Amino acid sequence: MALAKRQTKWGHKGLLEVRAFLFAYYLRAAMQNSDDKLKKIISHCKEYGYVFPSSEIYDGLSATYDYGQYGSELKNNIKEYWWKAMTRLHENIVGIDAAIFMHPTTWKASGHVDAFNDPLIDNKDSKKRYRADVLLEDYIKKLEAKNDKEVEKAKNKFGDAFNEEQFRATNPNVLRNQEKINTVESRMKAALEASDLVGLKELIEDLEIADPETGSRNWTEVRQFNLMFSTELGSVAGDAATIYLRPETAQGIFVNFLNVQKSGRMKIPFGIAQIGKAFRNEIIARQFIFRMREFEQMEMQFFIKPGTDGEWYNYWKDARINWHKALGMGTENYKFHDHLKLAHYANAACDIEFNFPMGFKELEGIHSRTDFDLGNHEKFSGKKLRYHETESGESYVPYVIETSIGLDRMFLATLTYAYTEETLEDGSERVVLRIPPALAPVKVAVLPLLNKDGLPEKAREIVDQLKLYFNLQYDAKDAIGRRYRRQDAIGTPYCITIDHDTLNDNCVTIRERDSMQQERVSIDRVREIVEAKVSMNVLLGKLV
Ligand code: GAP
Repeated sequence: MALAKRQTKWGHKGLLEVRAFLFAYYLRAAMQNSDDKLKKIISHCKEYGYVFPSSEIYDGLSATYDYGQYGSELKNNIKEYWWKAMTRLHENIVGIDAAIFMHPTTWKASGHVDAFNDPLIDNKDSKKRYRADVLLEDYIKKLEAKNDKEVEKAKNKFGDAFNEEQFRATNPNVLRNQEKINTVESRMKAALEASDLVGLKELIEDLEIADPETGSRNWTEVRQFNLMFSTELGSVAGDAATIYLRPETAQGIFVNFLNVQKSGRMKIPFGIAQIGKAFRNEIIARQFIFRMREFEQMEMQFFIKPGTDGEWYNYWKDARINWHKALGMGTENYKFHDHLKLAHYANAACDIEFNFPMGFKELEGIHSRTDFDLGNHEKFSGKKLRYHETESGESYVPYVIETSIGLDRMFLATLTYAYTEETLEDGSERVVLRIPPALAPVKVAVLPLLNKDGLPEKAREIVDQLKLYFNLQYDAKDAIGRRYRRQDAIGTPYCITIDHDTLNDNCVTIRERDSMQQERVSIDRVREIVEAKVSMNVLLGKLV
């Protein structure tokens, strides 16, 4: 009623504004839950020493973060899990650590100078900038979600008799949405492949895609932005001295292909792994550590004989999804997404997506890069980058399958899964980080029940016995319940409490983080109990 009055008073323009307002209102409400979770994670990370805004005393620098005392431990543990899975579990994979600065021709050869662009579009009303392809992908995701909902509804209605494949092939609503998805996908793919920026804008307008934050459809043209940061080497300015901060670690591996192959006497197929910083001048850097301008990648290039790329691509898809699933962060939280538009170097590519608070988003990429990189480095450097097969006498530029995961995204995926708010039986509440134990920053907290009567001394003895094996924390302040909560919030898998009886029976109470179950055990057994749960080797063992 009130709305009808406002419509007559405001006329057509007013009506559009009301629609835009309502759209934004409902969208905001729908996004609230996911936003809430991300906000809670961000504030938890700051309060408990995981991630801080960078240079905060100067009001921070946008989209730049520092990892705190627990965050850096978690990062190191993720790196260890990845590094060992690559280099220890595969005899034919070795690791390197290449420089961030590389010869500028590297980036011409790799195609990044010419093709490492994002198609960006601005909303004239909100002044917000978006990636045109992401707006379109989100549109497709909404249609897919609608179809999933239809399927879910039908599943609940028909129970065991339900045949999903048949339903998807016959239900008119699902078919209509699917047809729309196919049309949007093929128009988007064609526009992206032809760098047809006008076509991209037309598609956004045809689909009436609105600014996700305000509902406005007042868009600028689509423009391309190169994402590489450049700087000058030494004190000389000018083109010759311009170098780039690497936008991917992979090129450090390609340019060292022959060095590693020859010095390590590697035989194809073999891989080179690397962990290191990468830099991209992301125009839209937001969503915490999901998209940053300075971030870390864990990349592995697997060099293979041309023609075996299909087989190895599938091998690495399986190997990588198994690596993720071994962590126990819920198999339903991962899915594969095939790339619609292939990067300039790839003949096949997919993402492993994770269910972040913002929905399913890319966590890792698996790319079949053909001989694009080595072939181009041959051309630009004039040096042969070939593999000579002694058995057959054949010589060729190897093909490459790449696995590339963002360390910071893996960190956010871990915290997304881990962050849990619980109401306990006694009505009290706790926030617990259910971090996979092998990745948890602190493995054991040693807690003397009282800070007197010889209990701290006994606790220190235990710390000395265990500190070579685990990252420990000693805490004697506050009531024991508060200390447990603190460890839950950090994600410590075990707390051991030393009380007066310990001095006589040499036993402690060991409390497990997730179940909160407590057990009285002899001090001699603590190491073995903790080890069984938190050991990196036990986790790696799931992959062999
Ligand atoms: N060498 C291939 C390559 O760099 P990519 O898909 O552009 O491929 C690989 O990046 C991974 O790096 C992504 O799956 C993501 O996890 C991470 N990543 C990319 N850009 C990022 C950014 N701006 N902030 C954080 N992580 C990023």
